[in-house]
Amino acid sequence: MQAEIVVRSARNVLGSRRVPGDKSISHRYAMLAALAGGRSRFENFAPGADCSSTLECVRRLGCVVERGGDASVVIEGAGPQLKAPGGPLDCGNSGSTMRMLSGILAAQAFPSELIGDPSLSRRPMRRVMEPLAEMGAQIESDNGHAPLQIKGGKLHGITYRPPVASAQVKTCLLFAGLLAEGTTTVEEPHPTRDHGELALRAFGAELHRSRNSVSIAGGQSLTALEAYVPGDSSSAAFFLCAAAIFPESNLVIDGVLLNPTRSALLDVLTAMGCRVSMLRVEEQHGELAGTIALVPGEGRHVVISGAQTALLIDELPVLAAIAPYTAGGLEVRDAAELRVKESDRLSAVTRNLRAMGAEVEQTEDGWRIPGNQNLHGADIESYHDHRIAMAFAIAALRAQGETVLHNADCVAISYPAFFDDLERIVER
Ligand code: S3P
Repeated sequence: MQAEIVVRSARNVLGSRRVPGDKSISHRYAMLAALAGGRSRFENFAPGADCSSTLECVRRLGCVVERGGDASVVIEGAGPQLKAPGGPLDCGNSGSTMRMLSGILAAQAFPSELIGDPSLSRRPMRRVMEPLAEMGAQIESDNGHAPLQIKGGKLHGITYRPPVASAQVKTCLLFAGLLAEGTTTVEEPHPTRDHGELALRAFGAELHRSRNSVSIAGGQSLTALEAYVPGDSSSAAFFLCAAAIFPESNLVIDGVLLNPTRSALLDVLTAMGCRVSMLRVEEQHGELAGTIALVPGEGRHVVISGAQTALLIDELPVLAAIAPYTAGGLEVRDAAELRVKESDRLSAVTRNLRAMGAEVEQTEDGWRIPGNQNLHGADIESYHDHRIAMAFAIAALRAQGETVLHNADCVAISYPAFFDDLERIVER
């Protein structure tokens, strides 16, 4: 893929699309398949580089991994005790791989080392190191950053209240809890995506959930799983936001994840005036998926804060990128976590919006973005962050003139065919 992509403005967004399999679910299915033993098979497995990093780690830990050309993946698990990898495990750009795998590796009978690319090596890892240490793990790091040296050994259950809402931390601790002695409980400050819980159940584990708390008893064995991964709702978000900014658009997304912990975007787009219809819903291994249709409209000013911010964490860049085109504008609060994603997404969005001529106020933990603005094409930097590149490909569609996206090849982290798929629904 080219590193530099030129995006021309569009007239409309029309049609029907499927998006690739969900990244969060794919990571979890692959890791649990490794622990399950037996043969698991997944259809519509996420195609991006992040999930390839997870598959490669799983392979290095003693599992047989076969990828079909049709997005299928077969994993012969190695059982709860994996094999020593004999060298560092490379998590690439993937925070999910590093944080969730840490929980599994902390309970293994061998030492391991987790490394990542420069972006991942800047991201905070104490959030998993500290609770894992409470469970009895020994992990060394470079001042809270990768590389992580994990000694591996016996763990015991704890009750933990993470200071920040993070599904990666929750899942890491549930995976560690599965392999630990006693019961592990995670009490979240706000609910986060629950794919870890649903995946553990799909593989046969029992969990207890109440309000914001989830508990797992250690020592349960998992059974291999055959599953279809629903379309990634965070990838669909880019197309839905594109449709939201053209008055005549009409977009259908088929086979997309509709898990309530991932579909808060639909509420926001509704508040922004769009009509979102659910045409079909079904359940696959606890995950809801189906077909949705969106037609735009004129809505009100939207404020996203607190629990809603946590549920929308991956969609905030694209919501901010389209906010200037909306009737009422957008305010986002409580989103300081955006500073420690693949890039500092708060600043990346602000800089790029300003390059396109938008008025935007960046606060300590969010933005205030007035609506009814006209933007112009500009040179946009992705900061090697897939969600920044895709967010500004969408903003560019309604800008006057062409936009040049630099380092846009990073979309391959989650959605390698993004630009081709976008072209299929855009009218010029
Ligand atoms: C994810 C959780 C979120 C999200 C990331 C995927 C997951 O990260 O931003 O893209 O699959 O659990 P945090 O746990 O850091 O909020």
